Amino acid sequence: MTLRIAVIPGDGVGPEVISQAIRVLQCVARLDTSMDLGFDFFDWGGNFYRTHGMMMPDDGLNVLRAYDAILFGAVGTPDIKDYVSLRQLLIRIRFGFQQYVNLRPVRLFPGVESPVRGATSATLNMTFVRENSEGEYAGLGERLFRGTDREVALQTAVFSRSGTERVVRWAFERARSRGQSLTSVSKGNALEYSGGLWDDVFDDLSAQYSDVPVSRLLVDAAAMAMVLVPERFQVVVASNLYADILTDLGAALMGSMGLGASANLNPERIYPSMFEPIHGSAPDIAGQGVANPVGAIWSAALMLGHLGYPEWEAAVVAAIAGFLATGEGRPKDLGGTAATEDVGKAICDELSVRSVHLAQTESGRTQHQGSTSGSGRQG
Ligand code: NAI
Ligand code: MG
Repeated sequence: MTLRIAVIPGDGVGPEVISQAIRVLQCVARLDTSMDLGFDFFDWGGNFYRTHGMMMPDDGLNVLRAYDAILFGAVGTPDIKDYVSLRQLLIRIRFGFQQYVNLRPVRLFPGVESPVRGATSATLNMTFVRENSEGEYAGLGERLFRGTDREVALQTAVFSRSGTERVVRWAFERARSRGQSLTSVSKGNALEYSGGLWDDVFDDLSAQYSDVPVSRLLVDAAAMAMVLVPERFQVVVASNLYADILTDLGAALMGSMGLGASANLNPERIYPSMFEPIHGSAPDIAGQGVANPVGAIWSAALMLGHLGYPEWEAAVVAAIAGFLATGEGRPKDLGGTAATEDVGKAICDELSVRSVHLAQTESGRTQHQGSTSGSGRQG
């Protein structure tokens, strides 16, 4: 059975890092002959917009729906308003496919230097569960009296009880299944309506998951604690905006923006899930062949876990860790001179050396619970 992957490389460094993610996926499929991956490419993004006046076709979601998963690079180009490019492509897919969980691991790989003094791979290892379908990104608002000195902007955050509950519950299941603690991040002191609902839902569910150690932090305190006491975080659940911001901080703590990975999950598996590095299109380095592809490769690993190959997810992550631990062949953002392509090749080599035994045992398997998937129903 072929797993069909829709690939949207997008803008800027997106295509550069995605080509290396695909290189590694193809490397896995060569090692495990039971795995058959088929890739279809979609040229949606800035160029598509310049020709068609839209970031993706009207029926784009219908086209994507037929796929087992989506691999996404990045979107955004200086000549198109960021809110247009983001909303018409990325957010449309996340919201349209009810990918309400955005899973973002933050961990320090051995051998990589964190800007945080004394941080180690034991103390800096957390998983963000970002609410990914509502909140401040709902796209509701108005600009009144545009361009006048009376101008007023309204941006309405949407927090539904059901939308909050489903993501917080998913985070509790994740924490429980791994024997980890769960921290909720909100701002209930200043945002009494949305933060108040979030906190109420978290407290209600805490009572149902009394075996999971919990804590609550205000978002500003959470930003401080991530730097000063990262070891206090294991699973972290937060709304769309806060987790967006805190995971860029997380990427910085890991050593580079180029390292951050994510999985946009539709846990019910009614729609395909989407896997993408957390960075943007990085126009400042696009076209130079120097972008770090690790975030994209790690995202592809999360995809393998979701598609029923958790051993291969672990193997790719181990290959990334092994590559980074050598300290050699590092890309520019990690202080080296290696090209994007060299990093992809090095991780493939590392994977091949490490995974011969996996390749021999992985035959004739069927889909089963993936490691990105919490305890939701698996298809
Ligand atoms: P960015 O994440 O693209 O870049 C921030 C900084 O990180 C830059 O200095 C960049 O060079 C560096 N960086 C990013 N990816 C890297 C990689 N793989 N290797 C090495 N260095 C890397 O964020 P920025 O500059 O705020 O936004 C640029 C564009 O990307 C905008 O149009 C924005 O709207 C869009 N964007 C898209 C996202 C997405 O597609 N998921 C997420 C964030 C921003
Ligand atoms: Mg972001």
